[in-house]
Amino acid sequence: MNYLFSTVNPFYARRINRDATRNEACDRPVYARLPLAPRNASPVPHLTSLYHFHRAGEYGDRKWPGNCGGNLIKDLLAYFQPDGLVFDPMSGSGTCADVCKELAIPCISWDIHQGFDACDPQQFPEPESLGFIWAHPAYWRQKLYSKDPRDLSRSPTLDHFLRRYGQFIRNCANALKPGGKLVILMGDYRDREAGYVPLTFHTKRLAFDAGLQQCCTDIIRFSHGASSSKKVYRSSFIPGLHDTCMVFTK
Ligand SMILES: C[S@@+](CC[C@H](N)C(=O)[O-])C[C@H]1O[C@@H](n2cnc3c(N)ncnc32)[C@H](O)[C@@H]1O
Repeated sequence: MNYLFSTVNPFYARRINRDATRNEACDRPVYARLPLAPRNASPVPHLTSLYHFHRAGEYGDRKWPGNCGGNLIKDLLAYFQPDGLVFDPMSGSGTCADVCKELAIPCISWDIHQGFDACDPQQFPEPESLGFIWAHPAYWRQKLYSKDPRDLSRSPTLDHFLRRYGQFIRNCANALKPGGKLVILMGDYRDREAGYVPLTFHTKRLAFDAGLQQCCTDIIRFSHGASSSKKVYRSSFIPGLHDTCMVFTK
């Protein structure tokens, strides 16, 4: 068949071959050579702007929707060596708490599933009481977490989500000690009604509005094991294979 096409129309044959290569590339992992990182005095030399760890580690529960591996949290704690309490205000299956337990770092870890609303300033820990906040919020309604209307994933519109998400970031900024770190893991996604939603851009905008500064490079976390990777879609789009981890300081 290919022989026939290449004889009749060599340009069409080239297009067919290109498609075959593309589909093969989707079916198996591709190994990319990463740039060399410069040597420096970092206590965690493998922590660079490109974060890839195909094993999630024994932290949290992989079955929890939106569960993230614990190794990135562990590396960030080793790098920043926080002063005092660690707080995870949207803890899901408790990945951050498990990492802190292993490292013997004091940690509080709450979620809307226990009735804690991270967007409510009255429920948040006291001003200047925390050294490090790890936050992995809902990516608006990409995944739904609970039936509680205060759950960020239940926000009916993008405006509503951003208003509450902004309040959450202000709560974090208020609760951080001077020099404390707020780490947010967030991803962009395409919403059926709202179109492409650049949540990482909004995160930075809201954090700067809350008086925080970004204190290091974005960390692009490869999304190994994302449930969407194995799906087949009819529509055409450029797949996003990463989340972005942003570190802010007060
Ligand atoms: C992406 S998941 C976090 C997953 C977690 N990092 C893990 O590894 O299991 C987001 C979490 O935010 C919680 N959440 C959503 N809105 C919230 C709110 N207003 N207050 C507190 N938690 C909220 C959800 O219940 C969900 O568990």
